[in-house]
Amino acid sequence: MKPLIFLCVLSIAKTGGSIDTRDSQSDEKQKEFINNGVVNTFAGLPVAGTVKTEPKLETLLEISDTNRYITLAFLNVSWFDGIEKYKEDEHERSKYGMGRVMDVEGRLVYVTDSENETDHSACNSSLRDSFGRSLSLYHNMPWIALIKRGGCDFEKKILHVYSYRAVGAIIFNNNSGSELNYMKITNKELLEGNITSVFTPMYKGNQLVEIIKNHGEHNPVKLSIKQGMRFDKKSSLNHRSSVLFVTISFIIVMVISMLWLIVYYYQRFRYLQTKENEQKMDTNKAKEALRKIPTKTIKTLSKEIESDCCAVCIEAYRLNDVLRCLPCKHEFHRNCIDPWLLQNYTCPLCKCRVLKQYGFVVSRSNESGPSTNA
Ligand SMILES: *[C@@H]1O[C@H](CO)[C@@H](O)[C@H](O)[C@H]1NC(C)=O
Ligand SMILES: *[C@@H]1O[C@H](CO)[C@@H](O)[C@H](O)[C@H]1NC(C)=O
Ligand SMILES: *[C@@H]1O[C@H](CO)[C@@H](O)[C@H](O)[C@H]1NC(C)=O
Ligand SMILES: *[C@@H]1O[C@H](CO)[C@@H](O)[C@H](O)[C@H]1NC(C)=O
Ligand SMILES: *[C@@H]1O[C@H](CO)[C@@H](O)[C@H](O)[C@H]1NC(C)=O
Repeated sequence: MKPLIFLCVLSIAKTGGSIDTRDSQSDEKQKEFINNGVVNTFAGLPVAGTVKTEPKLETLLEISDTNRYITLAFLNVSWFDGIEKYKEDEHERSKYGMGRVMDVEGRLVYVTDSENETDHSACNSSLRDSFGRSLSLYHNMPWIALIKRGGCDFEKKILHVYSYRAVGAIIFNNNSGSELNYMKITNKELLEGNITSVFTPMYKGNQLVEIIKNHGEHNPVKLSIKQGMRFDKKSSLNHRSSVLFVTISFIIVMVISMLWLIVYYYQRFRYLQTKENEQKMDTNKAKEALRKIPTKTIKTLSKEIESDCCAVCIEAYRLNDVLRCLPCKHEFHRNCIDPWLLQNYTCPLCKCRVLKQYGFVVSRSNESGPSTNA
């Protein structure tokens, strides 16, 4: 029974721990997403600084996020290379920051500091595209800025490209770690404005940079940001903690009842054992007392015996029968009365407490039994 309970507890704990905490569309998709460790084979393009594995969902949703909702995003990029080509995310790999969560589409531009062509951090408000052209080139079309992380905070970068009327900003990580921050934006203009911003891993940013570098100078590289799964962290945390609470309470209750059972059975065992010991001692003492009761052997069938038959076996006494002479003057065959006395301690005829008169006292826990106590 105990291993069964244990198994039961285990399985409950297990389901409790792995309960799916997301409030999004398809579970299958999520599973696929988590298990997917796709390597960047990427349209035959050499991709600088590729990371071997894509980030796992857990790292996209790292616990340090303080906001309630987290939304992931798909990126889909298309370019012209003699023929139209495109590369779309099979799974969400980017994460929306604070502010607008919406689908946008536009020409992808790798923003560059106007003084320093290796600086793509957009920390200075004076920006160009990666071919040294003015951003005013894109004023009459929707465009999306590709920005490298580092140098200043996310908000500053986004504000700078927003001032050039970008409809979207993609900031890619400056290290190959798979953890994606949730971009904090407090600027009211940005929060309410028509710009959407996502954070994406470094390998993704490097892919886009390569495409722009190779194909973006004369033909537009187009990119669309599409909304993916959305997670309600608060409710998932609440859910998780309530499941945890129930599981822990259940385990505690199980442990307490198990301890109680163990204590109960141990005490019962102890009790039975002492009782058994006492009974054994009683029997020994009774035997001892019994030995003191006088006996006699019938030599002649004369007046020396009280009656002519044993009241226990109702057989007439014969020569050489051994009798037990009780202090109450009753006499029986020794073999007939001894077993009775060992059990009942009294004379079967007059209830005289025979053994007590020979110094036998029953032990306390046996008092409820056939008692000789006054
Ligand atoms: C990605 O872009 C290509 C080219 O514009 C388009 O054909 C394809 O349907 C897009 N995929 C998604 C999921 O939007
Ligand atoms: C140009 O930008 C790069 C990268 O941000 C930086 O390492 C370098 O020091 C900058 N050069 C100048 C002259 O500011
Ligand atoms: C931005 O660039 C200008 C020159 O283009 C320079 O004078 C200014 O100091 C730079 N600002 C910052 C914060 O680097
Ligand atoms: C990457 O960006 C972070 C945040 O701005 C910065 O602290 C860090 O120094 C940067 N790392 C590199 C290698 O540029
Ligand atoms: C955002 O775009 C919508 C329609 O696309 C427009 O109605 C709204 O005025 C725009 N808001 C701002 C702040 O530009």
